[in-house]
Amino acid sequence: MKMYRAAASFWPLISDPADYAGEAGDAALRLRREARIPVRDVLELGSGGGNNASHLKRWFSMTLVDPSAGMRRVSRALNPECRHVAGDMRSVRLGRTFDGVFVHDAVMYMRTESDLRAAMATVAAHLRVGGAALVIPDHTRETFRPSTGKGGHDERLRGGGTGRSARYLEWTLPPASPQATENETHYALLLRARNGSVRAVHDVHREGLFPRATWLRILRDVGLVARRTSRVEEGVRCDVFVARKPAAPRTPRTTTADGP
Ligand SMILES: C[S@@+](CC[C@H](N)C(=O)[O-])C[C@H]1O[C@@H](n2cnc3c(N)ncnc32)[C@H](O)[C@@H]1O
Repeated sequence: MKMYRAAASFWPLISDPADYAGEAGDAALRLRREARIPVRDVLELGSGGGNNASHLKRWFSMTLVDPSAGMRRVSRALNPECRHVAGDMRSVRLGRTFDGVFVHDAVMYMRTESDLRAAMATVAAHLRVGGAALVIPDHTRETFRPSTGKGGHDERLRGGGTGRSARYLEWTLPPASPQATENETHYALLLRARNGSVRAVHDVHREGLFPRATWLRILRDVGLVARRTSRVEEGVRCDVFVARKPAAPRTPRTTTADGP
């Protein structure tokens, strides 16, 4: 996806970190409420430019995983105190667990059940017993609505005046059929460089579209106790999956002939 490669340095001008304050605050509350242990360290998978993390780091020590070097560079500039790791949410293994695991819009790039299962197995592998995971896709099959959006921002230079700028049109198309497990979002990006030149980029994002039942089945299959809740953002309802890792199943007690 060009947005996260060639255009990555424009991310803060496409998506302003300040716009994530409400959503990140809500995620922090939910993580704390759902966990059975104090939540101190949180792993975010698909952390992108670190917009959510720029708020979550007020409450948690954040470890941020993203496969795009350009997006990690943007996030590092915004969140120098967070640990950044290169990785794909389907396969990354950090060899440790966290009190919380957070997966936001990046999970939309899981386009098949097998990708989604691999990503949720990564969540389970990094979640401490008693900790909580929060997975917030942009849509499930039930909440999906075709939509268009637009936005963009101007870089403010220290001495005054504007530097680079971005404007975009976002067009989320209906899936090819009611049963399709994929849909496309097209982006028309206009990126203005400091020298005033403007280039146009057409970027197509192919995203997974799964029913709630599939999400819950996969979360349970990977060993998590999961349920669906929802939240409303700017009048749009979205599904939020919360999951916990139960204590390991107890091994059956062995009794001896003269034991209790
Ligand atoms: C919309 S951005 C995330 C923005 C983020 N919510 C923020 O707060 O800045 C989507 C990110 O998903 C990442 N991504 C795409 N496929 C991924 C995968 N398989 N594993 C992890 N991250 C992935 C992209 O590199 C991109 O940075």
